[in-house]
Amino acid sequence: MLKESDTYISGQQLCDDFKVSRTSIWKVMEQLKREGYQIEAVRNRGYRLISSPDVISEAEISSLLKTQWAGKRIIYYDETDSTNNQAKACGERGGAHGTLFVADRQHAGKGRRGRAWSSPPGESIYMTILLRPDIMPESAPMLTLVMGLSTAEAIRKVTGAEAKIKWPNDIVLNKRKVCGILTEMATEMVHVNYVVIGVGINVNQQQFPEEIADTAASLCRETGRIYRRSELIAAVLERFEENYGIFLKTGDLSGIQKAYDAVLVNCGQEVRVLEPGHEYEAVAEGINRNGELMVRLPDGERRYIFAGEVSVRGIYGYV
Ligand code: BTN
Repeated sequence: MLKESDTYISGQQLCDDFKVSRTSIWKVMEQLKREGYQIEAVRNRGYRLISSPDVISEAEISSLLKTQWAGKRIIYYDETDSTNNQAKACGERGGAHGTLFVADRQHAGKGRRGRAWSSPPGESIYMTILLRPDIMPESAPMLTLVMGLSTAEAIRKVTGAEAKIKWPNDIVLNKRKVCGILTEMATEMVHVNYVVIGVGINVNQQQFPEEIADTAASLCRETGRIYRRSELIAAVLERFEENYGIFLKTGDLSGIQKAYDAVLVNCGQEVRVLEPGHEYEAVAEGINRNGELMVRLPDGERRYIFAGEVSVRGIYGYV
């Protein structure tokens, strides 16, 4: 309520709306102050919110969310091993579709291909959504691209910067990686039990570990501004809920293909395709409805590249 109001809200009004005592209201205000919220209390006028800290608690994210199901339940950790691990454990226990796991710090953050994902506290986003889609297991990898597009759109909306997608699902800003996505799933023969999609966004960091210093960046380093992580998380969930709905209608990416291609880095440009034991150059032409990257070889042949063992690089460097 304080967030939605630019003026004071009386203690009495809060008591009436939440049906609690004055003492309870006072205790909550003290708790919020300990979490870093600046709240002014004036006799006979009430309480006013002066500023909110960059916390990503359940209450903070929920206060910004306008979704129907994505993130309706949020599980926050000051520290955990990996939000993907927590989401999978919850998936095994029957956790609800749309549950969001978010951590300030991970001590065993996971990247793709068995790599670690550096996860220091206070400045980045580590979040994973648990999904129970009624789709065939072979369609599930497309959800990674749905999340890639949603994250790029959210970053664009919040920062105004031209975030792009490096197929299949890294988000880059000025050709440096600012976000990675890791999808894991549990399937039975022809049925998806659950899918978890983990998103790591470098938001306010200034420094990176030496091994990734050349290719990684943060939204702050690239745009010169500090961002509120909760605002970005809410924006990602909102974009994802909409794009997921479009995906489910057709069960493929035909509904978001255009939007995806519009933000695909290297679209229409020459790329190097790195297959195990074999490299070649081609022009990237965008994705097809299954999320494969379509490339045109110099002799005119068109090939469809399935994400997995294959990497695609710009002719110069990482992007
Ligand atoms: C990549 O290698 O590009 C994928 C990185 C995915 C990192 C995120 S952070 C939240 C979630 N939890 C993890 O352990 N990994 C993903």
